[in-house]
Amino acid sequence: MTAARVALITGGIGGIGTAICQRLAVDGYRVVANHHPSEQEAALSWKNDQAGLGFDIDTIAGDVASFEDCQRMIAEVKERHGPVAVLVNCAGITRDKTFKKMDADAWHAVIDVNLNSVFNVTRNVWEGMLEAGFGRIVNISSVNGQRGQFGQTNYSTAKAGMHGFTMALAQEGAAKGVTVNTVSPGYVETAMTLAMRDDVRDAIISGVPMRRMAKPEEIASAVAFLVADANGYVTGANLPVNGGLFMH
Ligand code: CAA
Repeated sequence: MTAARVALITGGIGGIGTAICQRLAVDGYRVVANHHPSEQEAALSWKNDQAGLGFDIDTIAGDVASFEDCQRMIAEVKERHGPVAVLVNCAGITRDKTFKKMDADAWHAVIDVNLNSVFNVTRNVWEGMLEAGFGRIVNISSVNGQRGQFGQTNYSTAKAGMHGFTMALAQEGAAKGVTVNTVSPGYVETAMTLAMRDDVRDAIISGVPMRRMAKPEEIASAVAFLVADANGYVTGANLPVNGGLFMH
């Protein structure tokens, strides 16, 4: 029997991250969920909850905004489980503000966690994937990176940047068995959308052709498709999962 492929999910204990972890575990991957170092306790209780649901998922602390910490984290995952074959860059935050109220902290925090993180983590798994002749990278972007969103200049910038990264890196991996793709969710039932003002959220949902938010599992399903062995010819793509909110 060959060893299960190792899948690392950044932001793995969050709303979408959890669904991706569970789905990839069901699909037979050895799943490792990354969380911020400050979330040690939450991660432990998350891991226990997952075990209670029948999922054997490891957790690892790592600040995706720090290149050095990502270097350490990837080395630790390799030591525990072997090289990362599947990477899902899912860590993300919002600091929504109209641009006239946006300070430098709100700008840099979102660019660091949502976009620079993609370099920090991916750079540390890339050579291993090239050497193995196999790899799957999925960047979790957003509909708001495709169409922009009032109050999200920082977030929309970062999310649009992720897909530029996807298209460029996909070209470097294409002949080496490594695919790089983007999934662009619309509004999803998670703590992030719950934190929005009710009236703003309701107004946005009323404009979604499906008139509802996505379930996290519906995003996980798109990720599972892109990482599957059978879908190795899909690369540099942006797969929207947005209920029809933005059609491109
Ligand atoms: N287009 C044009 N004008 C708008 C607008 C829009 N979409 N939304 C609000 N305005 C106008 C308002 O009518 C108001 O005008 P007046 O000053 O003339 O009355 C003005 O802009 C200020 O609006 P707000 O009252 O909303 O301003 P605020 O400072 O209280 O709130 C905000 C700002 C917090 C950014 C709020 O606008 C907001 O929550 N926006 C939505 C952000 C959003 O969609 N976040 C998604 C989070 S989830 C996520 O990011 C996941 C994902 O990938 C989808």
